Amino acid sequence: MTLRRTLPGLVVALALMLAAAAVGAELRRLPKDIALPMTGKKHSVVTFKHTTHVKPESADCATCHPRPWPMKRRAKQPVITHKLMDQGELCGKCHGEGKESFDLEDCDKCHASDDE
Ligand code: HEC
Ligand code: HEC
Ligand code: HEC
Repeated sequence: MTLRRTLPGLVVALALMLAAAAVGAELRRLPKDIALPMTGKKHSVVTFKHTTHVKPESADCATCHPRPWPMKRRAKQPVITHKLMDQGELCGKCHGEGKESFDLEDCDKCHASDDE
């Protein structure tokens, strides 16, 4: 009768292991840092890092994919402008005054060594 009792536990444990492995595989497939395409007037390149935006324990890709950013490598991506970010879209969903991450006024956190 021990088998009958331990079997459901084993099934759960196995399911958890498989889920963890799936998450691990997903994380290992995180894209390399992305130098976002330049828009508008001259400024320094903004690099987007998945490593700082994806929590290892959750691997929540759905916050950003497929909207506003399609996940396919060759997909047409939205053009990121400050006008849109100021309206709380794209990066501005989380970056801005009172948002979960730093303010859009902190230029050099995104624009490394920007003169502006
Ligand atoms: C905080 C937002 C955010 C999260 C969360 C996020 N991504 Fe992304 N992802 C982006 C942005 C921004 C781009 C680049 C868009 C562009 O090129 O303009 C991108 C691009 C990609 C690309 C295309 C890669 C390339 O080199 O062009 C893939 C694949 C991708 N993400 C996979 C994932 C996976 C898998 C996860 C979850 C583990 C994830 N992303 C979570 C924002 C995010
Ligand atoms: C879903 C919310 C979310 C979105 C969307 C998002 N970020 Fe972030 N970002 C965060 C959080 C949370 C942190 C880490 C906490 C902190 O440093 O305040 C962070 C950190 C950063 C950092 C500092 C760490 C690093 O990677 O160098 C940069 C730069 C950055 N984000 C740029 C961007 C850019 C550019 C975009 C749009 C392409 C973007 N973020 C979209 C939530 C977000
Ligand atoms: C949350 C990250 C982030 C912060 C903070 C940030 N930017 Fe940007 N900025 C971007 C992204 C992403 C783009 C679009 C990609 C590109 O053009 O490199 C961009 C584009 C720009 C552009 C050209 C397009 C446009 O919309 O004007 C200028 C100029 C610019 N930024 C200046 C600044 C200045 C000045 C500050 C500080 C007041 C600032 N940025 C703060 C992420 C940021």
